[in-house]
Amino acid sequence: MSTAEQTKNSQYFIELEEKHGAHNYHPLPVVLDKGEGVFVWDVEGKKYYDFLSAYSAVNQGHSHPKIVEALVNQAKKLALTSRAFHNSVLGEYEKKITALFGFDKVLPMNSGAEAVETAVKLARKWSYEVKGIAENAAKIIVCENNFHGRTTTIVSFSNDPDANKNYGPFTPGFIKIPYNDLAALEEILKNDAQNIAAFLVEPIQGEAGVYVPDDHFLKNASELCKKYNVLFIADEVQTGIARTGKLIACYHEEVQPDILILGKALSGGMYPVSAVLANDEIMNVIKPGQHGSTFGGNPIACAVAIAALDVVADENLSERAEELGQLFRAEIQKLIEKSDLITKVRGKGLLNAILINDTPESSTAWNLCLQLKENGLLAKPTHGNIIRLAPPLIITEEQLLDCVKIIEKTILEYKR
Ligand SMILES: Cc1ncc(COP(=O)(O)O)c(C=O)c1O
Repeated sequence: MSTAEQTKNSQYFIELEEKHGAHNYHPLPVVLDKGEGVFVWDVEGKKYYDFLSAYSAVNQGHSHPKIVEALVNQAKKLALTSRAFHNSVLGEYEKKITALFGFDKVLPMNSGAEAVETAVKLARKWSYEVKGIAENAAKIIVCENNFHGRTTTIVSFSNDPDANKNYGPFTPGFIKIPYNDLAALEEILKNDAQNIAAFLVEPIQGEAGVYVPDDHFLKNASELCKKYNVLFIADEVQTGIARTGKLIACYHEEVQPDILILGKALSGGMYPVSAVLANDEIMNVIKPGQHGSTFGGNPIACAVAIAALDVVADENLSERAEELGQLFRAEIQKLIEKSDLITKVRGKGLLNAILINDTPESSTAWNLCLQLKENGLLAKPTHGNIIRLAPPLIITEEQLLDCVKIIEKTILEYKR
């Protein structure tokens, strides 16, 4: 091995990124080189359990062979046509995804943020052209502590200063209510429904720290929206595709949103694929030339998404997430009784978080994640003192219990 190659260790790659890349992330100091199933390996060859799953994009596990095969085969055949022409995969994908989620139509995009933008535009257009709101008067209700992505419009309705400080001027037309507050939603709808296009909500607030709303919140909110002719938009970019123990989290309450936003695991984390689903009455307001994306609906994306959805069904990932999630929370609950370092575990399916007994400003959660890394498990804090724990859904019970042991050892050995 040459001297140059020998120096290509973790430190080398971290320094490269530090020097040449924008500093818009603060990654854990680990340089990953390979992934397979629930495991990832760093450049030194150390093996870890992945307990982040690329923010729930890798639900099907790293480099799932069926998804890789779909990607490679389609890449060799036809990668991109743009939507100027039809392609032989898009229609098949559209048929599959609309049937699976029970909608008339899908609008394919790439990233989660683009899909949220698309849903916002769709809801506004519907509100002017179908509901009859006066031009430019439409408002969309959103929740405090939301996370829907990073575009200028989306950060316009964030209340996280990291997300929007000095990115103004902002897009108007959004009203914030506390998350999980049905009374606040009803109050606005009662007073101003004629100017409200939609209510945009995460069924569980993932980025905020895995906040699960009260039982029936989603059901009651969707019924209120129906009553006032307001669209119920579910952003299931993080909660969707089996992560919470159902194909989408809304199904826990038998809610069918008017607009459904999907991303991340729709492709098994293999490729940026997102989607907005709605019925004709809503989707048909967008006509040729009025919205689009060069890569949206490209043949590779469609082939990959078809394979990724097949894996979810073939491997019963929703049922696994539900079952293993219950086991995981029960095991962590036992740990809470043994340690005062964690105060709570919460979540649904395999989207969970533990609350660290320290202030959000403290570095305890970060230091614990460094120690988890040393012990062979990768996770990342969110909002200071919360650690999100979200392994790929293909994890086995034995592997999950092994991970519980790593978490237990790390917590019990941690010195403040
Ligand atoms: C609920 C939700 N919506 C939207 C997004 C944005 O997705 P992307 O990062 O692909 O733009 C995320 C990303 O974490 C998310 O959790």
